[in-house]
Amino acid sequence: MHTGKADMAKAKNITFFCKECGYESSKWMGQCPSCQEWNTMVEAPVKGSAQTGSHNVGITGISGNAPIRFSQIDSNSEDRYTTGFGELDRVLGGGIVAGSMVLVGGDPGIGKSTILLQVCANIAASRKVLYISGEESPGQIKMRADRIGNMPDNFTLMCETNLNTIDSAIRAEKPDAVVIDSIQTMYCETSDSAPGSVSQVRESTNALMQIAKGLGITVFIVGHVTKEGVVAGPRVLEHMVDTVLYFEGERSESYRIIRAVKNRFGATNEIGVFEMCHEGLREVLNPSEYMLEGKPSGEPGSVVVCLMEGTRPIMVEIQALVCHTNFGMPRRTAAGADYNRMNLLMAVLEKKAGMQLSGCDAYLNIAGGLKVSEPALDLGMVMALISSFRNIPIPDRTIVFGEVGLTGEVRSVSQAKQRVAEAVKLGFEECILPAACLKSVGDISGIRLTGVKSVSELCRK
Ligand code: TYD
Ligand code: MG
Repeated sequence: MHTGKADMAKAKNITFFCKECGYESSKWMGQCPSCQEWNTMVEAPVKGSAQTGSHNVGITGISGNAPIRFSQIDSNSEDRYTTGFGELDRVLGGGIVAGSMVLVGGDPGIGKSTILLQVCANIAASRKVLYISGEESPGQIKMRADRIGNMPDNFTLMCETNLNTIDSAIRAEKPDAVVIDSIQTMYCETSDSAPGSVSQVRESTNALMQIAKGLGITVFIVGHVTKEGVVAGPRVLEHMVDTVLYFEGERSESYRIIRAVKNRFGATNEIGVFEMCHEGLREVLNPSEYMLEGKPSGEPGSVVVCLMEGTRPIMVEIQALVCHTNFGMPRRTAAGADYNRMNLLMAVLEKKAGMQLSGCDAYLNIAGGLKVSEPALDLGMVMALISSFRNIPIPDRTIVFGEVGLTGEVRSVSQAKQRVAEAVKLGFEECILPAACLKSVGDISGIRLTGVKSVSELCRK
């Protein structure tokens, strides 16, 4: 008889975790079956047996609850309060829910600590807030706070990384909200792996979850996104928290986009747009105007697309550059848009519109740093590519939206009326949209509507 490696792992209480997504396995694998990343499985000891491990404690942190009748559940318990930022409240689904856990993820230096400090300053006007930092000294945080503005007296600060100490401090202070900056610096004494490792991050989050749910305290957790670092990425804890917010945008530029990718208390894919200035982050209330700032006029390859981000229409400029390649293999890049989608649309253009694109380099860019995954972007990509390939500019006051199928047909998209209305509001004169959307848009004055059925029809125009 032989003992398999998995059995040995079990006997020694060793489990393998994926650094990226937290996938758990009893044996080591080269590729994570969950997120398909390579070389992300790391070994981590699991404390005690599975029965006593804290992984088995439910999300309320209370075990031994009896079943209750549905009618006896108090549904008015969702108590919300504002962050002080309308943009952030909307992303959260209408403000902070008391007792919820919010993960704020993003690249280092993008502004996670800044926005949370600002939120703390706003909340602390009427509630007790405890900010726990494992990354900066009190002096550094004070310096940052001085730039942001005045901190109310209800704001308390603690520089600590030991979760047991943090636990007792929270229980003694009884704040309404707690910020943990960042989860990758925290450690639980019960786990002997290093801070930032998968098991430590999970263990710490579990401990915090029990505090949050048990005492009804809102906990904000900062998580750095690390592509190939030694620390576990925030994706490891996405499934444990109630809400996941991610920062988008370039560190070198001033705008920051906060997107909800998971929200148990509201719609996902709502975005909030902020600008990083000297006094911290400032809300951008008219993101479309902001996104279109600096759009070149009369240049081929540039077109404005109307997208829906959650419940709100937003205009973005999409730019394409198509030129003949100097190498055998054409180069193609897509910044902000889906690279595979771009290749697919170029194949459609080649086949359906007779454009010789296989010998061309093509570069696509969404100005403004927004990452777009909406199908309504298709028609914009197609028009930008055609415009650059033929060197014909698209008139300035024109917007487009629509999905493009594999046979070159232009398909309708949702909320066409809202998109057109936003275009009218911003002074656009012509809208190129799927012909199938014309009916749902109806009569709108102030804008010329041009319906298109297929890519080849678009090319003839
Ligand atoms: P920070 O919140 O420390 O990033 P994170 O916590 O996500 O790592 O943001 C730091 C960056 O923000 C830094 O590059 C400086 C810039 N910043 C400003 O431009 N203005 C400000 O008022 C503040 C506080 C920071
Ligand atoms: Mg920080």
